[in-house]
Amino acid sequence: MKNTVYINTDIRKGKINKNIYGHFSEHLGRCIYEGIWVGEDSPIPNENGIRTDVLNALKQIQVPVLRWPGGCFADEYHWKDGVGPREDRKRMVNTHWGGVVENNHFGTHEFMMLCEMLGCEPYICGNVGSGTVQEMSEWVEYMTFDGESPMAGWRQENGRKDPWNLTYFGVGNENWGCGGNMRPEYYADLYRRYQTYVRNYGDNKIYKIAGGPNVDNYHWTEVLMKEAARYMDGLSLHYYTIPGDFWEEKGSATDFSEDEWFTTMKKSLHMDTLITKHSTIMDKYDPEQRVGLIIDEWGTWFDVEEGTNPGFLYQQNTIRDALVAGLHFNIFHNHCNRVQMANIAQTVNVLQSMILTEGEKMLLTPTYHVFDMYKVHQDADLLSVETNTDTFANDGEKIPQVSISASRDSDNNIHISLCNVDNKREAEIEMELRGWSKEIAEIAGKILYADEMSAHNTFEQPNAVQPTMFENLTVQGNKVKAELPPMSVAVLKIENRGESQ
Ligand code: AHR
Repeated sequence: MKNTVYINTDIRKGKINKNIYGHFSEHLGRCIYEGIWVGEDSPIPNENGIRTDVLNALKQIQVPVLRWPGGCFADEYHWKDGVGPREDRKRMVNTHWGGVVENNHFGTHEFMMLCEMLGCEPYICGNVGSGTVQEMSEWVEYMTFDGESPMAGWRQENGRKDPWNLTYFGVGNENWGCGGNMRPEYYADLYRRYQTYVRNYGDNKIYKIAGGPNVDNYHWTEVLMKEAARYMDGLSLHYYTIPGDFWEEKGSATDFSEDEWFTTMKKSLHMDTLITKHSTIMDKYDPEQRVGLIIDEWGTWFDVEEGTNPGFLYQQNTIRDALVAGLHFNIFHNHCNRVQMANIAQTVNVLQSMILTEGEKMLLTPTYHVFDMYKVHQDADLLSVETNTDTFANDGEKIPQVSISASRDSDNNIHISLCNVDNKREAEIEMELRGWSKEIAEIAGKILYADEMSAHNTFEQPNAVQPTMFENLTVQGNKVKAELPPMSVAVLKIENRGESQ
């Protein structure tokens, strides 16, 4: 069956917040240390301690926002240990992740510097689980107060005269679990209390994010919205795509069956149901959609690579991960009026990474390439799309074979992202642009695909999976026909030649 698609170029459904393309970097395994921070004296080329290869790769994908320092680490992190001369900083144990020594060499100043180098917004997660209200309040004062105060003075002593701009601040992480094992009623009260002292200094206006539900814990959303919606700007949601049925059997990142391929796609699509249901509850308390749904942890979670520290969560990344990323973005776009930010877990060397490193070597994963191809949707207008797609069936279950999203940028160019999740069958797609008065003059695209489900990049073959020009396109008037190979992600650009909507 053909897949038919109508793109209503004159029907705008909302704005795709660029922060949907956000990232998350935790003090976990080799994400911060080695993956990002190598220190100024490292033989690995670096700028002020940040490795240059990773920095340049991240600049290319236009990271809009970066969440730090955790994750579970955030609720054990005491920020004062991570400022001042590095040689004097406290050495502690990272109890949650691998029991390794944390020397606190990457702290507030280093993180803010990284964000400035990337040109992205910082998103800091504060400690509710084991930290005090005073500690959280002083952190915000340290970073953002422009005047005479104990914390602003200390910041200046530590080498930073001007305050930083800080918009996004999370009041705890996973407070139903590693962030304190709380009940929602209790956390809602704590949230109200802690956020009171997260102050706006001068012109700096903080967007406060409350710790939200895990997966389908709708009761948590209900209680938080009922009791605390008026004190928050955002509510977080965490959902990981795990093909296995149990945490102990998540499945291998590279050695998996066709059934696991199908389950991974199906479970990725579950994100749509979760957003819909949590949004419905949010709509009840916040019909104006003032409070953003902040999906600040998402992505695949597989078994760690053999021989690596189980607490480091290091996994490879295949064309399957690329499809997971593409599906998630198309889903986030569709919910762009409620979903204001999403942060993939995690940037380097942890879970569904953009980048893997080994000493001085670095590679870009298939997921990285999807972020690169999709960046054209950042801050664009989502367009209405009607689809009639074929199904991808496996063992009596079915999901749509193709996922599609389209947006219009500020120059009125149209971008269409397409995922064929079927691991065996091509997808023939006929697209019609409605409301586009000109004939399609210029169309170009990129595609990422592979012949094997397990195709991935290695340090020996870093370019085994990388995008190529998408040639299988035919244009007639306002219609485009595309043939997508199995297991592929494509992004097309239809250039504006005089359209003015
Ligand atoms: O991303 C890894 C961990 O997953 C985070 O630290 C935690 O918030 C979540 O459970």
